[in-house]
Amino acid sequence: MYDASVSRPIVLPDPPLSDGRVTLRAWRPADVPRIVAMCREPDVIRFTSVPVPYDADDARLWLDLHPARLAAGDGAAFAITEGGDELPVGSIGVRVLHDQGVAETGYHVVEARRGRGLATAALRLIGGWTFAELPVARLQLTTHLDNPASQRVAEKAGFTREGVLRSWTDQRGERVDLVMWSLLPGDLGA
Ligand SMILES: CC(C)(COP(=O)(O)OP(=O)(O)OC[C@H]1O[C@@H](n2cnc3c(N)ncnc32)[C@H](O)[C@@H]1OP(=O)(O)O)[C@@H](O)C(=O)NCCC(=O)NCCS
Repeated sequence: MYDASVSRPIVLPDPPLSDGRVTLRAWRPADVPRIVAMCREPDVIRFTSVPVPYDADDARLWLDLHPARLAAGDGAAFAITEGGDELPVGSIGVRVLHDQGVAETGYHVVEARRGRGLATAALRLIGGWTFAELPVARLQLTTHLDNPASQRVAEKAGFTREGVLRSWTDQRGERVDLVMWSLLPGDLGA
């Protein structure tokens, strides 16, 4: 049973989370050029809140945040890799909302590797790890209404579509509606 009052450091899995094909590893300084390339892709700009424009300093600042976020138990970020290849093909992360006993996740996969099940596999790994390791009773994610690929990923990973949150957030100065999805521990393996 989760205890939302507990905020302990997050320890990244060792060995890294893997289903044998997709592996979620810690980010490294050497990944900066790849992070920049991913965060400049049009659909990543359109459907996530990455800074625009995005350059190497943004990537380094983002990497620098990770140790403190882990130590505070606030969240974790993973590079998605495929097979034995060390080059990241995507990104997935978890943020803990301590006061709610809830975690939020978000992800993206490089254009060249989409449509091969990578995001779904990564999200399934994150779902299992979240309920095994984090003090939360719910994992949620939000998708844009006009992002069918991400909605399909959520559905395939076992999330339930809960409804549309009208004017839910500000994305670079514009209010956007988002679809809320959730996964509960009992949904795993269903
Ligand atoms: C969303 C995203 C992560 C999906 O990554 P991916 O590795 O291609 O995902 P998967 O291969 O696991 O699954 C994609 C599913 O969406 C489907 N899909 C893709 N484009 C679609 C479209 N325009 N309409 C309907 N379904 C679509 C695919 O057919 C596949 O479903 P299937 O297995 O039933 O055929 C990737 O497109 C991306 O990075 N987009 C930009 C950033 C983003 O939107 N992030 C999510 C923010 S909530």
